[in-house]
Amino acid sequence: MRIRTRIFGTYIALGVVVLAAAGALIFDRVRDEAHEGIEARVDTGLGVVASALERWEGEVDGGRLDEVVDAFAEAAEARLTVVAADGTVLADSELDGSALAAVEPHGGRAEVRQAIATGEGASVRYSRTLGVDLLYRARRLEAGPWSGGVARIALPMTRVAAAESHARNALLALAAVGLALTLVAGGLLARYLSRPIRELRAVAGRLTEGDLDARARIDTGDELEELAAGLNAAASALGHQVLGARSERDQLEAVLEGMVEGVVVTDSGGRITLSNAALRRMFGLEGSAEGRTPIEALRNAEAADAIQDAARAGVVESEIRLTWPLVRTVSLHAAGLQTGGCVGVFHDVTDRERVEAIRRDFVANVSHELQTPLATLSGYGEALSAATDDPGRVAEIADVVRRQSARMSALIRDLLDLSRLESEGFEPERAEVDVEALAREVADSWIDRAREKGLRLETRIESALNLQGDRRLLQQALANLVENAVKYVPAGGDVAIEARSLPDAVELVVSDTGEGIPREDQPRVFERFYRVEKGRARTRGGTGLGLAIVKHVAEVHGGRVELDSAPGRGARFRIVLPS
Ligand SMILES: Nc1ncnc2c1ncn2[C@@H]1O[C@H](COP(=O)(O)OP(=O)(O)OP(=O)(O)O)[C@@H](O)[C@H]1O
Ligand SMILES: [Mg+2]
Repeated sequence: MRIRTRIFGTYIALGVVVLAAAGALIFDRVRDEAHEGIEARVDTGLGVVASALERWEGEVDGGRLDEVVDAFAEAAEARLTVVAADGTVLADSELDGSALAAVEPHGGRAEVRQAIATGEGASVRYSRTLGVDLLYRARRLEAGPWSGGVARIALPMTRVAAAESHARNALLALAAVGLALTLVAGGLLARYLSRPIRELRAVAGRLTEGDLDARARIDTGDELEELAAGLNAAASALGHQVLGARSERDQLEAVLEGMVEGVVVTDSGGRITLSNAALRRMFGLEGSAEGRTPIEALRNAEAADAIQDAARAGVVESEIRLTWPLVRTVSLHAAGLQTGGCVGVFHDVTDRERVEAIRRDFVANVSHELQTPLATLSGYGEALSAATDDPGRVAEIADVVRRQSARMSALIRDLLDLSRLESEGFEPERAEVDVEALAREVADSWIDRAREKGLRLETRIESALNLQGDRRLLQQALANLVENAVKYVPAGGDVAIEARSLPDAVELVVSDTGEGIPREDQPRVFERFYRVEKGRARTRGGTGLGLAIVKHVAEVHGGRVELDSAPGRGARFRIVLPS
């Protein structure tokens, strides 16, 4: 029930009770007064009649008594009767002549009997003659001609009833007015008293809905004002806490969103409650993952299982292969939470794996490349011990040993060069390099071998080409390109070495008319140990380091190397270096 209704109800109930009690008391009093008034009137009337009869000096017989009694009765507005000591009715204000003579003796009437015996008598009786209740009072006459007889007065009770109903009506009207006033006052009071409570309720409602600026303004100076102050204080404390929690959440969100690791948190029901951008990227999620299960959101059974296991078993470490949206390898570290959920962190280890694979390949490649000449050397070593007396054979073996050693030392030199070029922070020497002279030197050193193989070697070298750099590295890079051309272009082909200046750069080009390089291999020929066709490379003795060195030399000088080739139409390598 509403407070207002309760206050109102209580007030009205109280009003009704007070009004009813007061009404009953007043009514009782009024009725008693009416009774007493009538009785007083009756007593006075009776007293006057009795003393008049006791002092009677006129004639005793004849109509005189009846006349006097009638006159008294009219004045007193009552019925008067005079009864003789033997009960005979001597006079009656209501009866005359023959009726009086015929009336039965009244000696048996209660009030008469009582008066004759004790001097006073009273009774209330229904009068058949008048058809109403009558109040009778009788008194014994102590002197005069009718001494021993009784004077009696009768008044209809309707007088009392009329007085009662008059009083009742007045009281009822008063009660109605009182009740109406109570209703209005009660309504106003209930409204006035419940107003601050309604305001408190409204403010509490707004707070619940998240409006933390809501404040109650109550100045009733009582407990409700204190309650409002308490509510306001609680609201501002809550506001501070919410603000703190919000900034903490924002911070956490910023950290989560900034992480490269994918993060997912599930609740005890196995549904995702938190995820970050990295996770969405890794698993190619559209929309938010929150509210979904890991399998629905991540669409990867392995990951979803691991998360579920962690929620049950505590900690799970696993490596998961993703095929969508990209082929990646991610490591998952998932830990169960005390709340029954789990937190999982995905780390993309694809690059780490690739580096690891490159390192493994590199070791395998180097070992393989060194093993081949070593095996040859040890084979020839044995052959040498068996052929000590054959000088021709010895010279042959010595030649092989020399060539294989040279190959090994070239390989080791290339490896050392590469590792130096690749080492972090490597800076090439910066000296003035005469590119024209350098290009001519390389051309000169390869001209004989080209000719031996039946190739034409052309040069188109501009004069006065200069740049800042490491002469030895640049020369090695150009030589590697020329060596490849001489090595891979079949007899009868052409090789050209060009050097020219560009705006702010110098370009060195080695082009040929050989078989060229297949398109699918072109992006990879600059990788270490990469050879287009293993068989072909092996017969020509390459290890696949030449172009890797070229690329690094160009890059450490702030330049680049480009390859333009179509199968069967030769290859064109172009180094561009800033001048
Ligand atoms: N001018 C070219 N014509 C055709 N193929 C070429 C040419 N230059 C390079 N290649 C191909 O690119 C591969 C890589 O060349 P790279 O110079 O790096 O290694 P290599 O010549 O095999 O060995 P290395 O130079 O270390 O002795 C070669 O094995 C060859 O298959
Ligand atoms: Mg080479």
